[in-house]
Amino acid sequence: MIFAVYPYPLYFLRRLIYPLDIISYISIFLHTTITQLTRYRKTCTMRKQGGTLPVIKRTTNEETVYGAMSAKDTRNGNVYITGDKHCSFRPFFGLRDKGLIQENDILIITGDAGYVWDEEYMTKIGTLEQLFSGTLAFIDGNHENHSILNRLPVSFWHGGRVHRISDRVFHLMRGEIYEIGGARYFAFGGARTVSRYVEGVEGIDWWTGEEPSPEEIDHGRRQIAAHLPDIDYVITHEAPLQARDRISRVKRIDPDYMLPSILQDWYEKLADAGRLKQWYFGHMHVDQQITPDLRAIHNNILRVGTETKLDWS
Ligand SMILES: [Fe+2]
Ligand SMILES: [Fe+2]
Repeated sequence: MIFAVYPYPLYFLRRLIYPLDIISYISIFLHTTITQLTRYRKTCTMRKQGGTLPVIKRTTNEETVYGAMSAKDTRNGNVYITGDKHCSFRPFFGLRDKGLIQENDILIITGDAGYVWDEEYMTKIGTLEQLFSGTLAFIDGNHENHSILNRLPVSFWHGGRVHRISDRVFHLMRGEIYEIGGARYFAFGGARTVSRYVEGVEGIDWWTGEEPSPEEIDHGRRQIAAHLPDIDYVITHEAPLQARDRISRVKRIDPDYMLPSILQDWYEKLADAGRLKQWYFGHMHVDQQITPDLRAIHNNILRVGTETKLDWS
């Protein structure tokens, strides 16, 4: 009896849910098709732009410019710049003791900041924040832990992408443009550690991500081409090629290492465009004006725009 009756409730149940099945199938089919079409359109757009990273469209939208994060309001502060710090806190004691930096000021480091070096990096960032009341923004040099930097969350800050380390410490990413106080800054970190293949140990003396990839260089090139008449300042770690001849400290350039030549090309294009006010670079560990608009920076802390030096020591 049970066996005779059993198929009938099942049959009626199936009749009931069958129309729902059809609706589900149709909605799943539509969802999959629309998702695939959207992905295909995005891929076509990226291919047209010639790379995997899209050129950032400039915007004055508040959330995009200043980020939907609890960053300090730095719109009315001064911008200062300094060179390689290699995890030194000494300048920050000087700045604090002499009251030289205000809460809404920004200090940019031209690479080899060195505070994100091992898994204990937040302890160092905590020390920095105790000593320094402003906002710290650094490009990466060759002496950073790129593995840690590249896994940090990406946010927007002053219109460009950053790795957010804390509310007041940011890593400026390669090829990004930041609008600060009405001026536009193009940032491009990275360099090759000299003789790394001969004597260095990967993950201790040098990092895989220290040298910009072809995709990052392409992104930088396209950003410069798109914003050539708008860029006021450039921050790089490596030096444009012509600077190497003017600096007494020698750093060997491997025959296959093209970054100094690429930066030289970008420097000439920006100088010809006529808007460039100053190109700052670190890496060479000297304070030296190379040309009126090309400057090596190390220990000096300069106010961007006026080039006045802070007496922090
Ligand atoms: Fe350095
Ligand atoms: Fe360096």
